[in-house]
Amino acid sequence: MQKSKVVVRNARLADSEAIAAITLEYARQGIMLERSGENIIEHIRNFFVAEYNGEVIGCCAITFYTPKLAEIRSLAVFSRYKLKGIGRLLVAKAESVLREEGVTEIFVLTLNRDFFSRVGYSEVKKEYFPQKIWRDCTHCPKLMACDEIAMVKKM
Ligand SMILES: CC(C)(COP(=O)(O)OP(=O)(O)OC[C@H]1O[C@@H](n2cnc3c(N)ncnc32)[C@H](O)[C@@H]1OP(=O)(O)O)[C@@H](O)C(=O)NCCC(=O)NCCS
Repeated sequence: MQKSKVVVRNARLADSEAIAAITLEYARQGIMLERSGENIIEHIRNFFVAEYNGEVIGCCAITFYTPKLAEIRSLAVFSRYKLKGIGRLLVAKAESVLREEGVTEIFVLTLNRDFFSRVGYSEVKKEYFPQKIWRDCTHCPKLMACDEIAMVKKM
């Protein structure tokens, strides 16, 4: 794979099926929350995708909570393209957009401590965050047995 040919860009509506396929791969493994096609379309302006040779191979999304606090979520790279720097590129793109918006703190809820430490995030107690960041938890099948950790990066 030629990394120089990877483009990370804002997602378009036409990418929604590819985003759904990427997130489904990991939702089936219980690693991330599934996002329905409908939900992805509703939030398409908050998504970024990584494209290689015309194929969407990775995605991530941003969500705002306060003028200073945002989340990176739904980060995933098709398994055959893992460990080639694509995840890092997606996080960098989301961070640069959030920085431009004036966000000073970005958090993730994840099972993947190692990846997010490599890209500069540190673990914090979940109580560190305002209650409203937990609004999606009510839809999560793991509600009563949450194993995700919260990690944060100050910009
Ligand atoms: C997490 C994920 C997006 C990372 O994407 P990726 O393209 O494989 O990651 P990168 O190649 O950009 O890795 C960046 C760095 O993190 C390290 N890294 C990535 N995944 C890692 C892992 N599972 N364990 C340890 N280190 C890891 C890489 O070695 C690399 O280190 P470097 O500093 O030496 O370059 C990808 O593994 C994935 O899709 N996982 C399943 C979904 C998921 O867990 N999403 C996160 C939940 S929100």
